[in-house]
Amino acid sequence: MTSMPRFVVTIDGAAGTGKTSVAQELARRLGTDCLDTGAMYRAIAVLSVDHGIAPDDGVALAQSIQVLGIRFDWNHEPASILLGGVDVTSRIRDLDVSGVVSIVAKQPEVRKVLVEQQRRIGEEHPLLVTEGRDQGSIVFPDAEVRFFLEAKMDERTKRRVKQLRESGKTVENSQVLQDISERDKIDSTRTDGPLICPEGAIVIDTSNKTMMEVVDSMEQSVRAVLPT
Ligand code: DC
Repeated sequence: MTSMPRFVVTIDGAAGTGKTSVAQELARRLGTDCLDTGAMYRAIAVLSVDHGIAPDDGVALAQSIQVLGIRFDWNHEPASILLGGVDVTSRIRDLDVSGVVSIVAKQPEVRKVLVEQQRRIGEEHPLLVTEGRDQGSIVFPDAEVRFFLEAKMDERTKRRVKQLRESGKTVENSQVLQDISERDKIDSTRTDGPLICPEGAIVIDTSNKTMMEVVDSMEQSVRAVLPT
């Protein structure tokens, strides 16, 4: 069986660099779906916290994912995420979930299952915008356009605090800064799928740019090579 010709845009970067917002806006402008791969790792962190599975027990987590299933409902914009048929879209952003997600994402058994699912989602989408840490380096190394976003730490913290408060969560700056710093360390030093700038990626520092400015320049780069 030959797979459909497809066009993949990857956006990688650390927490708070603005990836999720720009990826969603870019996908909207291109008229396609946005795959938030962090949401998939977060859904497994929910599985760990709410179902009492240790975050470092990769084998048990991978088995449970196969049984319960993680899927996106693409009818929502942005897509909602379901774990075992239950909508966990809001739950995945809670701080207790964020606190274990890097440990969960470090487990090779977990990454193997999710990388396969992400590639399958890629095959189901002729055009896809996908964001995470390893999308341009591991999951879609042949993606037509690869971006890598960066931002200063104080800006990243400010954005994450704003995002959490807007969704009704009570958080302190120091708590969020600590969470981001710890996740950075774990995400960039793990052996399997670490956060790196993919070869040939377009690097954008988002610190002093609005979300729309970032998306404008990304859209220009994509449209320059997108078949019409
Ligand atoms: O982007 P985010 O903050 O929602 O990501 C949540 C966690 O998932 C983060 O600690 C890193 C991990 N992650 C990953 O390891 N690989 C991805 N492709 C996406 C996220």
